[in-house]
Amino acid sequence: MSDKHVEKAFQLSASHRALMARDAESVLGWRYEPRIIFTRGKGVKIYDVDNHEYYDMSGGMMSLLLGHAHPELVDTIKTMAEQFVHQSSWYTNPWAIEFAELIASTLPGDLKMVNFAVTGSEANEVAMRMALGATGGFEICSVVRGLHGGSLAAEAVTTVGGGRKRGLGPLTMPARSNIIVPPFYYRAPVRDADEWDRISLQMTADMLEYTTSQEIAGIIVEPMMVAGGMIVPSQRWLRGLRELADRWGALLIFDEAQLAPGRTGKLWGFQHYDVLPDIVTFAKGMTAGFATCGTVTTPKIASAARGKKGIPWSGTYPQDPLACAVALKQLQIVLRDKLTEHAENVGRHLQQGLLGLQQRHECIGDVRGRGLYHMLDIVADPETREPDHAMAERIRYYALLEGLVLICVKNYIRICPPIITTQSEIDDIVGRLGVALTRAGQGAPAQTDYRKTGSLAADDLRRA
Ligand SMILES: Cc1ncc(COP(=O)(O)O)c(C=O)c1O
Repeated sequence: MSDKHVEKAFQLSASHRALMARDAESVLGWRYEPRIIFTRGKGVKIYDVDNHEYYDMSGGMMSLLLGHAHPELVDTIKTMAEQFVHQSSWYTNPWAIEFAELIASTLPGDLKMVNFAVTGSEANEVAMRMALGATGGFEICSVVRGLHGGSLAAEAVTTVGGGRKRGLGPLTMPARSNIIVPPFYYRAPVRDADEWDRISLQMTADMLEYTTSQEIAGIIVEPMMVAGGMIVPSQRWLRGLRELADRWGALLIFDEAQLAPGRTGKLWGFQHYDVLPDIVTFAKGMTAGFATCGTVTTPKIASAARGKKGIPWSGTYPQDPLACAVALKQLQIVLRDKLTEHAENVGRHLQQGLLGLQQRHECIGDVRGRGLYHMLDIVADPETREPDHAMAERIRYYALLEGLVLICVKNYIRICPPIITTQSEIDDIVGRLGVALTRAGQGAPAQTDYRKTGSLAADDLRRA
């Protein structure tokens, strides 16, 4: 890291600032402030226009498990670029078949049939179509504080607050879709987790019975609800949800977009539990950044859904050869190099480091997560647990100044580096985060107006 970096203000060249201004003028997108512009990545690091070095603390959008420019993936990309990039969706290629087979081989039960999609949102839409087609029901019930994507049906079952749904009105389905009471123990009205499991499942059972048509096609849930606050369900809660799905003849859909493969210390996040889903969706981490997402189900459900509700689903890009070859290679490396076990071990070390920071910084109300996916819950007061969006945003800003590119939305700071991150890199990261926390505790940065940050946190702040 250069000396410039440890100064209190960003040292950005005129050409960097000019690019930032052009971006603000011409591109609508999510942006943090300052809107640093990056030009390259290598391993767990990324570099900005001025060649400043940062840890990529989210591996892109939690997609690059092997970090940037992994040599074996670079070779695959080069080979495929010369050989076969894209094809008609009415045909297929050996890489898509092998990727589907490898995914199926890692899943328990009879989860063997893959319907490819481009985005995680689309994969969840396919899952919902499958559930409707296979059951004849029509409601999809989701967990309050769950996130399943931004296309409109996926948005309808998403409830993470902020401005996402504002103004969409009837473009999303009725809010009764979002009726499963979450196992959010840290912010539950009772502090005893067992008691909250009992209450939340009872409330959920009532909501399913009294607020739906009782023609429930599916229940969709993330086995660890990331965007909603890194909510880690108990075995009892998830099993309870399985029982409720069975009671209503609904299919249980696990959205693994944020979790698989490996990141949580199990290949699939739901393998922390002995609960089997009927449908699983994959995205982000399974894609190596090449947007090859999908939906897996059993042959029985696939044939019941076939020919109904647009199943099988495709479009212009799903199962493209280049994307599938790269994603296949990444999954092979995750398995070959035992990166799931690595994520579990290094994740334990990360958790210790974060718990150490919590002891020194009152603003960290809670540290939640599994493996190499953790979240800091930033609070105004550890007793009341009142979320502190502004403080989280400040921490994100100072962390960036310390060379950590973090995702922070609302009062939640995500720690999800590529799963190849080593123990000594984790020590370095935790040290830098400690500096950022200390600076954030001393006051807001003079250099930037965090309210301009385009995250949902800023959206709430603007309304405040
Ligand atoms: C759990 C979950 N499901 C689905 C999605 C949507 O994925 P995509 O952005 O690829 O549509 C996300 C995105 O963040 C997610 O976190």
